[in-house]
Amino acid sequence: MPLWRYGVVGLFAAIALAQSAPPLRELAERRGILIGAAVEPNLLVEEPRYAQVLAREFSLVVAENVMKWGALQTSRGQFNFAAADLLVDFAQKHKQAIRGHTLVWHQQLPRWMYGNFSRSEMEAILAEHIRTVVGRYKGRIAYWDVVNEAIGDDARLRATPFDVLPDYLERAFRLARQADPQAKLFYNDYGAEGLGPKSEAIYNLLKSLKEKGVPIDGVGFQVHVDQGFSPQRVGMAENLERFARLGLEIHITEMDVRLVGGQPQAERLEAQARVYQEVLQVCLRQPRCKVFTLWGFTDAYSWRAASEPLIFDDRYQPKPAYFALQRTLQQP
Ligand code: G3I
Repeated sequence: MPLWRYGVVGLFAAIALAQSAPPLRELAERRGILIGAAVEPNLLVEEPRYAQVLAREFSLVVAENVMKWGALQTSRGQFNFAAADLLVDFAQKHKQAIRGHTLVWHQQLPRWMYGNFSRSEMEAILAEHIRTVVGRYKGRIAYWDVVNEAIGDDARLRATPFDVLPDYLERAFRLARQADPQAKLFYNDYGAEGLGPKSEAIYNLLKSLKEKGVPIDGVGFQVHVDQGFSPQRVGMAENLERFARLGLEIHITEMDVRLVGGQPQAERLEAQARVYQEVLQVCLRQPRCKVFTLWGFTDAYSWRAASEPLIFDDRYQPKPAYFALQRTLQQP
């Protein structure tokens, strides 16, 4: 959609962009943070525009799918790194940091993982996967989502095929640390941005891991929300602050903002822009928040494409949300 369709604000924004405002990655660097996007590596090859915008605007990349267990180890002991390698090579070429996503998750596991393994078999499986994957990218992947979404919406630990190993969580972090002592290791989850039972459970889990000496460096807040979200309303700044006090680095890891409701499109886009802006402000005001990552960047390839949740439209035109991030990064 051309920019003028976003109304007067869009028009002024377009003029501002034309006056060569620096790309987001440059503005973010001045503020001491990285700005990232989730990537599907096949598009880097198939769609030049996708690769161009990604390289120009973002200083960090994360694999949307290709570094998940089911993508990397489709049959036991057989690893396929082709797509992941493509992303790592692209990132290095364009001086982008990389978040590895993800080592232990109850979703996107290959079928063979549901094989009723014994405790010692699962011990070997977990160790082989983490050593092989983290070891392959040693020194090249700066941050790993070691454990993803282990706490359910009921604020309790989810059931997973890893459960036969009661200490799988801490074991995963220790294995990752051994495989690459330089990489920063994260716990990542959604629906935990604000104060509430789920974030409380995650806080208690991470606090207890820290107390046990488990090597965990940070926590990722995904921020999959809609245009009605308000970080103030849910107490996001206070929530991040208590995790910061545990000594953890904080990343916004998967932000996208769905358009919902029946208002005119221009209003919905403004509301969406405001949500991006407010969450970025929370990150910028929290000294331990170092990374702000979106779950994709163009609406053309979002996992929720129908609700246009990203900052470029499906023709790579910047939306009001793009300009809101640009402005916010420039504010003192
Ligand atoms: O790769 C196959 C393709 O071969 C097949 O033809 C096609 C048919 O459906 O499916 C393709 O796999 C899909 C995959 O995305 C790659 O496009 C899966 O069906 C689909 O389920 C998968 O969805 C991903 C989802 O995780 C899986 O749960 C989304 O793209 C991805 O955005 C989403 O990402 C998660 C994060 O990892 C964790 N946090 C939440 C976030 C959103 O759900």
